Amino acid sequence: MSKNYSCGIIGMGSSLPDKVLTNLDLEKMVDTSDEWIVKRTGISERRVHDKDTPTYELGVDAAKKALDDAGITAEDLDLIIVATDTPDYLTPSMSCIIQSKLGAMKAAAFDLNAACSGFIYGMSVANSFIQTGFYKYVLVIGCEGLSKITDWEDRNTCVLFGDGAGAAVFGPVESGYGVITTYTGADGNLGKYLTAPCCFISPQDNELRHGQNKRVLWMDGGEVFKFAVRIMEHGARKVMDDAGMTMEDIKLIVPHQANIRILDGAAKRLGVSKDKVFSNLHKYGNISSASIPLGLCEAYNENMISKGDNLILVGFGGGLTWGSAIIKWSK
Ligand code: ACO
Repeated sequence: MSKNYSCGIIGMGSSLPDKVLTNLDLEKMVDTSDEWIVKRTGISERRVHDKDTPTYELGVDAAKKALDDAGITAEDLDLIIVATDTPDYLTPSMSCIIQSKLGAMKAAAFDLNAACSGFIYGMSVANSFIQTGFYKYVLVIGCEGLSKITDWEDRNTCVLFGDGAGAAVFGPVESGYGVITTYTGADGNLGKYLTAPCCFISPQDNELRHGQNKRVLWMDGGEVFKFAVRIMEHGARKVMDDAGMTMEDIKLIVPHQANIRILDGAAKRLGVSKDKVFSNLHKYGNISSASIPLGLCEAYNENMISKGDNLILVGFGGGLTWGSAIIKWSK
């Protein structure tokens, strides 16, 4: 199908649990220190959802705010995509639950799991549908309850993650604005470095299970770190090349929030100052697929971006996967 419409973000919303878990709280749970966590990750605190409350509630809240901001109703939506690696149920999908809670009964709905790259994957699907005119309004939500799959006895991982949701309504925008280009990729050969078993895991499948019987997240932090710094630079350069832009044309990079050393390393490789790279990591930690829409929403609410600004979004995560995009902000 040929390209007819420009597709952009017309509304944004986010949702965070009230409960704050600080590094000092973690000092009482595992052998760690505030000093180590801040120095090695940049994280001071994170939000943690009540363990008995479904994660989809964060997604519903973020979605309602995004719809209000877009000035459309749930009935206007054609499609809901939820990017998550922590769905409450394998079925129904989180997107179907959220469709029902919103009353978006005209919308098709599906989940996708590309871990921390999920929002970029969802956005690239939304963009394809809207550009061709097949759909008019697509809601993409990154929604995560990582605290539910965190091993609270493993200091290597439990200090890193948090819970939250970010949502964006995509729709037709002025010609030349909105999504300029997207890029997605995966290397399943590296999947073993970041795993979280499902309930149906085979005990024989040791390469991905790492000998553990718990259904919790396991990570080889060093391997993911090396991958992340390399792929953030590659993802950002790829979309700039595709769009015929240079770093001079970019107002702000909104990356996946995993570790301040990853963000600083990527900024250095890209030759940009740290203040061109958005970060809210100190407050929320790593919220996987929610971190990019949540960061973008925060940058927008804090007037860090204006109409016409070019933004790079770039993410990486479990799979291993990656994704990047350039948006010319249209609001
Ligand atoms: N407190 C104190 N000490 C710790 C802690 C902690 N919380 N965690 C690890 N250590 C110790 C280790 O045990 C090790 O001790 P040893 O030398 O006695 O063995 C030492 O600190 C160094 O450990 P490293 O793993 O080398 O620490 P590093 O500086 O590499 O930091 C970290 C680890 C923060 C995990 C880093 O590797 C990282 O950020 N990796 C990338 C994570 C990421 O990007 N994930 C994104 C994807 S997430 C997703 O998709 C859901």
